[in-house]
Amino acid sequence: MTAPIVRTLAELRQMTAGWRKAGEAIGVVPTMGALHQGHLSLVRAAKDHCDRVIVTIFVNPKQFNNPEDLENYPRTEHDDAKKLASFEVDAIYVPDADQIYPDGFATNVSVSGLTDMLCGAARPGHFDGVATVVSKLFLQTQADKAFFGEKDYQQLQVVTRLAADLDIPIEVVGCPTIREEDGLAMSSRNLLLSDRSRIKAPLLAEVMDDVAASLNDGKTMSEIVPDATARLLAAGFNEVDYLELRDGADLSLLDSMKPDARLFAAAWLAGVRLIDNIAV
Ligand code: PAF
Repeated sequence: MTAPIVRTLAELRQMTAGWRKAGEAIGVVPTMGALHQGHLSLVRAAKDHCDRVIVTIFVNPKQFNNPEDLENYPRTEHDDAKKLASFEVDAIYVPDADQIYPDGFATNVSVSGLTDMLCGAARPGHFDGVATVVSKLFLQTQADKAFFGEKDYQQLQVVTRLAADLDIPIEVVGCPTIREEDGLAMSSRNLLLSDRSRIKAPLLAEVMDDVAASLNDGKTMSEIVPDATARLLAAGFNEVDYLELRDGADLSLLDSMKPDARLFAAAWLAGVRLIDNIAV
């Protein structure tokens, strides 16, 4: 059965008030739609840990630093609702834009430090947009737990920080990245890849695995990165935004292996920006 689609905060609050009164634990899975198996794994985790599950779908204009990227972002609400049917979620919250950003909206949530590097450096304003909308979604749904993929590892750190800093009573739960059989990390943006680019895209994960192996053999990033970048560019990637080793907790930059290190990459392939990260 398809879940009820809720478009206003008033309707949402009416539903959640009953659940809260009954003492039911509410889980939220924030998304921008174009749902894939990665999102569905978050829904599964939410169903396992909560009595009620809300999936939100909102393509958040504030987190796009490029108008063309916002325009091209896939919008597939009907298919998304069909994909969610077998999970029996309790509500799909697809807020109208004015439910998130009403006239006169003037607040910006900005998490400093964690957002200065990686995608924060490459996409100015992106994480302010994410932090602002996620704060609203946390407060609007009043959920007890929120589920995010490790695929967007920096985002996971940012939302965990903001919930703690703003005393929002929600537990942020990180879930493992889900990959295609050829290793490509699942992402809504993969829908934008042409057939030719789709064949090349798994090279990003392959190169990252090879970089991880070299790090484990004792090599440093300064020694490894030039060849790894050249390999991606030679295969048809247009630009590598970053290929960096960082501490998994505070995201500080590393040159060589240490416990809890993670490798992060973002690269452009025919107009599509792919990102990935792995524990090393
Ligand atoms: O990861 C996403 O899809 C988005 O950044 C999120 C968390 C739904 C906020 O718009």
